[in-house]
Amino acid sequence: MGKYLGIDCSTQSMTGMVIDTELGEIVWHESVVFGELTSYGAPNGFVERDGRFFSDPLMWLEALDLLMMQLKNEFGCGEIRGISGSGQQHASVYLKAGFLEVLKNVGGDESLKDQLVDCFSRRESPIWMDNSTRLECEEIDAVCGRGYARRVSGSAMTERFTAAQIRRFMKEEPRAWGETARIHLVSSFLASVICGDDVAIDLGDGAGMNLMDVVYGMWDEGLVTATAEGLMSKLPRLEKSDSVCGEISDYFVKRYGFKSGVKVVHFTGDNPSGLIGCGGGLVGTGVISLGTSDTFFGSLARVDDMGGGRYGHVFGNPVGGWMSLICFRNGSLAREWVRDYFGLDWEEFEGLLLEGDVAGGECDVVLPFVEDEITPCVKIDELIVEGREVFESLECRSLVKRMVQCQFINMKIHAGEVKYGKIILTGGASRNDGIAQICSDVFGCDVVRLESGDSACLGAGLRAAAGVDGVGFEELFSQFCDCDGDVFKARVSEGGLLEGLTGRYLGLLERVVGL
Ligand code: XUL
Repeated sequence: MGKYLGIDCSTQSMTGMVIDTELGEIVWHESVVFGELTSYGAPNGFVERDGRFFSDPLMWLEALDLLMMQLKNEFGCGEIRGISGSGQQHASVYLKAGFLEVLKNVGGDESLKDQLVDCFSRRESPIWMDNSTRLECEEIDAVCGRGYARRVSGSAMTERFTAAQIRRFMKEEPRAWGETARIHLVSSFLASVICGDDVAIDLGDGAGMNLMDVVYGMWDEGLVTATAEGLMSKLPRLEKSDSVCGEISDYFVKRYGFKSGVKVVHFTGDNPSGLIGCGGGLVGTGVISLGTSDTFFGSLARVDDMGGGRYGHVFGNPVGGWMSLICFRNGSLAREWVRDYFGLDWEEFEGLLLEGDVAGGECDVVLPFVEDEITPCVKIDELIVEGREVFESLECRSLVKRMVQCQFINMKIHAGEVKYGKIILTGGASRNDGIAQICSDVFGCDVVRLESGDSACLGAGLRAAAGVDGVGFEELFSQFCDCDGDVFKARVSEGGLLEGLTGRYLGLLERVVGL
């Protein structure tokens, strides 16, 4: 028992957290914001070009070095007993054949970025925001048969998932594809760099690729072959998330002062890791993370309990079994858009949400999307008057509340059949009482909030403690996953109105999107 490091590589930053299981406290917590690494021209951590979204993998390496330096200077690395981490899901890293050799020989004098710069067959890692591979999804579906991907991999062919992104790369850049010997996810790439070895992909994040058989935890021959020629040999092994994947490499020992032999537990996706950081998400407890995008997830007793319609996903649960996940791209994006549109600050925004409903308010249901949405699949420029244009004609009081109500209604109708008795809210926007209250009103159950925001990073620290020293999750959850004491109860007065709104929202979706 002692100190464990969790690392999370998200879209906009790389965060580190040290937990101390003797004190039951988070003792260090810092981030490197990618936008501050100005040479990558990515103020928000990614570059958008023609509707495609990329990040430079060298940016992640530079941030990892900076984060470790900060840890060394501010806290020290010598007492860390174990490390784990998480990464934004689906994003892929393309490496040449010499990668492993270079990685094994990385020395302590030059930075990771300088030593690994020539290892990439592609300097543009497609990330989860890239929603532009419909054609490739259809091509894979045409080979495997519609419905196959959902049955086997736990998700219908999905544009941002790794398979479709890999297929487009193979089609568009055959030369670079030929030079690619290994394809990692962000999670397994960072674990590989930290171990100085070629580390497996874990079953939690692996399930987000549309390539893995989610029941058996193996690459599915049919999906892999339909995705790209020669892909099987470029994929790492798959392993359970809770096992140790290696020991920290000499580079980190020499440069930052880690003890040699520190064990590393498989990194996983930010959502599987977030589930653990929230306290495990017992079956019947839903977790909603309110960030740039919003996500809804929860543990599943059985793999086919998802019932999440066309858009839900089943991933591996890092503590065993499965979890559901549904991603909504217009999270804070849409909330901030409305706030800015009416020139409000967050306090005013919160106040409007807490007010009782305006009788016959000027505004009925709206589609709460200001950018292309993935759940349901909506291209913003195809929206007609009932969609985006309706915003421009509304009063702020009415729109602010409807927008947030419709965000949660959209979430609820896509969250499947599982009955939720409690919802845990996490992420930046969960601090807003108005948003928490509307969530409770719409789901009709108690809503609580986690005390600590960074659940993916905390989940990584907890997984390190469990995987390296066998610390029990129940004990870890009781030490680190406290809620802040507020319980939001559904307002009976809003119930009838919300029922009506839900019916009308479904009608609107059907008309505009075809549901
Ligand atoms: C999940 C998804 C996002 C990313 C964000 O499917 O695409 O939640 O993991 O980092």
